[in-house]
Amino acid sequence: MRVGILTGGGDCPGLNAVIRAVVRVGLGYGHEHVGIRRGWRGLLEGTTIPLDMRSVSGILPRGGTILGTSRTNPYKRDGGPEQCMRMMGELGLDALVAIGGEDTLGVADKLHKEHGMKVVGVPKTIDNDLSGTDFTFGFDTAVQIATEAIDRLHTTAESHDRVMVCEVMGRHAGWIALYAGLAGGADQILIPERPANVADVIETVLARHRRGKDFSIIVVSEGVVLDQDQLQEAELDEFGHPRLSQGSVGERLGQHIKDKTGFDTRVTVLGHIQRGGTPTAHDRVLSTRFGANAARLVEKGRFGHMVALRGNEIVDVPLADAVAELKTVPDAVFRIAEPFFG
Ligand code: F6P
Repeated sequence: MRVGILTGGGDCPGLNAVIRAVVRVGLGYGHEHVGIRRGWRGLLEGTTIPLDMRSVSGILPRGGTILGTSRTNPYKRDGGPEQCMRMMGELGLDALVAIGGEDTLGVADKLHKEHGMKVVGVPKTIDNDLSGTDFTFGFDTAVQIATEAIDRLHTTAESHDRVMVCEVMGRHAGWIALYAGLAGGADQILIPERPANVADVIETVLARHRRGKDFSIIVVSEGVVLDQDQLQEAELDEFGHPRLSQGSVGERLGQHIKDKTGFDTRVTVLGHIQRGGTPTAHDRVLSTRFGANAARLVEKGRFGHMVALRGNEIVDVPLADAVAELKTVPDAVFRIAEPFFG
């Protein structure tokens, strides 16, 4: 079988480890592999690189993706889906492994259902907001980076009696903020799933001061909307997601805290630091297990499915399960953090 591999959407630590595992395990089945450049854009344009034992050598610990990525949506191009199918034929591909998040896998699901594309999915996102799997690879690395940052902010906050606001990624789901906030002992965590009441945050900070704690650490997801915010129209990407880089919720929250308390308040926006660089050992192992099982799904002809983690087992689920709805933080899970606030 000749198998194409593509990575789509935002990059994520562990993508290369997946590519390596698909190739190494696939070679054992007698598959040959073709790397599609820059996500769905590469399939539309037919831009590829050879993928063999040699080209995946040494990439296990490397961040990013050797294939490149994009947020191109073939369904936003005239004749895009048909062009993808035509290219599958022209490149002589018998199957495709699509490594991506909700958007990339949503396209894979549609191409499978509407055009019979022989595609297998691998769930990727640092945000961990994909349904159908307990965890996505990349999340552990992002949490580790954010936790280390919070630990570092703690010591400088304490030395200077400062309020430190730490903004982490998480457009629609607060998993990174919750896990890193819990691990780093944050005094307040704000996530997009819950109303963000600025007065409550300020009261938390003031209460800490009243009991002699002159510093505070507030962790906020980038996707949080503050109750004091004026809603503005954000620019949308090809999948209809707002681009959040136009202003930082952390900066706005920090300003409110400073204005209302007079305390010295500083803001750190972690941004793409959380997405770049080498994956944790946990993510390397998860990516390798996902990639190896994706090669097995191709071999078995389980198209229209995605590999997933359930408990500690790798299973496969229909792509539709992964993209039906976003996996946001349930209230009961968030409540685990609440006793540690303040
Ligand atoms: O979906 C992953 C993610 O890292 C989000 O947390 C973030 O909002 C978004 O991608 C940013 O993407 P980019 O900088 O690639 O536009």
